[in-house]
Amino acid sequence: MTNSRSILKVIEPQLVIEGAGVLLRRSIAPKQSNEYDPFLLFDHFAFNDPLEGPIRGFPTHPHRGIETVTYMLEGSVNHRDSLGNSGRIGPGDVQWMTSGRGILHEEMPRRGENGNIYGFQLWVNLPGAQKMSPPRYQEVNASTIPALDHKGVRIRLVAGEIMGSRGPVTQIAAAPLYMDVEMTPGSEFSLPIPRGHTALAYVYEGEGVFASQPVKSVHMAVFNDDGEKVEVHTQSALKFMLIAGAPFREPIVPYGPFVMNTVEEIQQALLDLRNGTFV
Ligand code: FE2
Repeated sequence: MTNSRSILKVIEPQLVIEGAGVLLRRSIAPKQSNEYDPFLLFDHFAFNDPLEGPIRGFPTHPHRGIETVTYMLEGSVNHRDSLGNSGRIGPGDVQWMTSGRGILHEEMPRRGENGNIYGFQLWVNLPGAQKMSPPRYQEVNASTIPALDHKGVRIRLVAGEIMGSRGPVTQIAAAPLYMDVEMTPGSEFSLPIPRGHTALAYVYEGEGVFASQPVKSVHMAVFNDDGEKVEVHTQSALKFMLIAGAPFREPIVPYGPFVMNTVEEIQQALLDLRNGTFV
């Protein structure tokens, strides 16, 4: 018999201002305590309520030692980077970036047809051995993300493997499970997650019962490591992102857009930026 994981806590996202003045809902942020290992940060772009003025976005900034996964629901993000890539991530599209030893990029969100912007950015840690690897950028069109339908539950699988399907976002060092789950009233969801793995659910629309605890949008539920599966049921329409993965169990030192293992490595990153040897 497998046990259902209970909920450790429910996090209320904090409104933070990043980039050139962009309002975000941030549920988790990089901290030395590394509580959600291998996950570092989860941001929800939602500039609609209250409606922001001109969106200024995230002008050129560096990253080192992490991977980011951007998933858009509505609106888009135009981007450009020091590898010479540029493009636009539209609704349902995903982009992931392995900063490795260093990347400089610009991310500029744009409103969709309805004037809305919704999307998420997840930061996943890189293990020490890969923090100085070559940077790379990859984009996935919405049409290549498998949608799995089962008894009133629709899963869009961004990364990881379930029921013989595989998400298009591969080659993330932490090999996470990352999916967008949509549930109709009266439906149930159950998914095996190995013991020892971190499991998070970000409820962005509606409400549901996670294990035995009701969770309403917009909140992040953190599962305990006390079972082999996560279970959700709902009497109303519900949408959430499910994030799970095995921790690296390495010490981390976060500093803004850098996440390294030691203070010396952070100092080196700052030195490289100053000396123009970052990328
Ligand atoms: Fe960035």
